[in-house]
Amino acid sequence: MKLMEVKDYKEMSEKAAKIIIEQIKKKPNSVLGLATGETVLGTYAALADDHRRNGTSYERVHTFNLDEYLGLGPDHPNSYHYYMNRHLFSHIDIPVSQTYIPNGLADDAEAECKRYENLIDEVGGIDLQLLGIGRNGHIGFNEPGTPFSTVTHVVELAPSTRQANARFFPTLEDVPSKAITMGIATIMKSGHIILLASGKTKAPIMAQLFEKDVTPLIPASVLKTHPNVTIIADQEALSLVR
Ligand code: F6R
Repeated sequence: MKLMEVKDYKEMSEKAAKIIIEQIKKKPNSVLGLATGETVLGTYAALADDHRRNGTSYERVHTFNLDEYLGLGPDHPNSYHYYMNRHLFSHIDIPVSQTYIPNGLADDAEAECKRYENLIDEVGGIDLQLLGIGRNGHIGFNEPGTPFSTVTHVVELAPSTRQANARFFPTLEDVPSKAITMGIATIMKSGHIILLASGKTKAPIMAQLFEKDVTPLIPASVLKTHPNVTIIADQEALSLVR
């Protein structure tokens, strides 16, 4: 794992956006793996800004999001579909038909997982996957204990994850209890992975990530076994790393 220590959230976002833009310039038909949440918002704002100023084109890019809540449709303001349209897709020139997110309203969620995993393989796999990290070390919605061999699957969200995400919902009860997520094996198939971490709330898990061995109890620790991972973390997130 290559570590880029940066000053703050702004610098982290700019560095991540730069890597993504370079990837698209190098390969205009890149397949990007995308995340949602607070950490990646600045990166998406920087990509939107770059598109506006410099015209970087996403016309040939395909994107696959890591996850989606089960039970929420694209029009629900808390769905990841809604988030992606609002924060990225509506600001760049990517055709909607080339943006993939698991269908949270699928009648058969298991079949949806298989379809999604196959779609990723059909486009030739993900070139560059962007990740945030949960306070418990989750990546995507792969909670601690998830076997490293899992592909896209339905998950029951950990109480701590529902709690952490409750800030986006009217009440904790409104946070869905299940989601569809790319599995750890799906994420690990990506050519290059960028993990972002910012702020004090991520300091304990970042310390564990560096100190502990590879273990399913810290899902992000699997990244130590991937040949091409870049961690971009700010000073606060790294403040407890000895
Ligand atoms: C989101 C996702 C999650 C988040 C993680 C960190 O698509 O897959 O793993 O990356 O929960 O969330 P934030 O950035 O809100 O701290």
